[in-house]
Amino acid sequence: MADLSVRCAGVSLRNPFLLASGIWGESGDSLAGAWAAGAGAVITKSIGAVPRPGYPNPTIETYERWGLLNAMGLPNPGIGEYPREIDLARKAGATIIGSVFAGDAEEFARLAELMARTGVVAVELNLSCPHAEGFGTEVGSDPEEVERIVRAVVDRVKVPVIAKITPNTSDPAALASAAEHGGAAAISAINTLRALAIDVRLRRPVLAHGLGGLSGAAIKPVGLACVWQIYEEVSIPVIGVGGIMTAEDALEYIMAGARSVEVGTAVTFQGIDVFGRLAHDLSALLDELGIARLEDAVAAAHPAR
Ligand code: DHB
Repeated sequence: MADLSVRCAGVSLRNPFLLASGIWGESGDSLAGAWAAGAGAVITKSIGAVPRPGYPNPTIETYERWGLLNAMGLPNPGIGEYPREIDLARKAGATIIGSVFAGDAEEFARLAELMARTGVVAVELNLSCPHAEGFGTEVGSDPEEVERIVRAVVDRVKVPVIAKITPNTSDPAALASAAEHGGAAAISAINTLRALAIDVRLRRPVLAHGLGGLSGAAIKPVGLACVWQIYEEVSIPVIGVGGIMTAEDALEYIMAGARSVEVGTAVTFQGIDVFGRLAHDLSALLDELGIARLEDAVAAAHPAR
């Protein structure tokens, strides 16, 4: 069977399939469950400075078989409470990446420092939630601000820093490049696309918050294009995210330039066992294509440099 192990952002992964942030609950037990199911690493729900209840329901809606529309409102217990959940997942042996969100560079740095102390192998900065006032895309759309935030965090933590950037902008590669200049160890791309559904009978948006983010199969071509362009622009590793439902989807991202991938909506649609299936199927697919190691497939679709 082909070798799926890969090094990404200075972290050794047993396979390239990471549990995406915000999927499958946020408890230590659910992170441990994803690890037990075969994920290469698990990424926590984005954690902020203080507890947040999130938006009122409905916060999530399926978009036929194409994906999910969600606006959860960054619900989380706050960084004060969260380390005990990470501890639970660490005791189960999981490789954990801690996701944080904040409103400015100083708050990001403070949170990342507290997150790094929990024993996570890397931190991922949520610079891309598409609908939370004062967070995510609102602080992550300007390359100069992205560079400032990443630099502030890199100056404060020893673990690798991953910048998760938004597709809701004209030039995602410029954001990736800014994060690289700030010292990021890797870029994850993409987060959800800003999106809306209307209930015509109620004459109002389906989600209580109105605007939300679209994930799942519908956004895969958008994610692939972003990863392709970012790969051309930066030298640090890229983590592909967006609509990965099958091993072939994952290999598309790898050949577009990603070294690992995050899986989210597929977990909601197919259950946590999707991780075991994806690893098995990717190994078989690489065997069929005569590729001995996953690393040999990275950026294989780009013209030789
Ligand atoms: C939420 C956060 C995100 O980063 C995202 O992409 C989608 C939703 C949230 O908690 O609402």
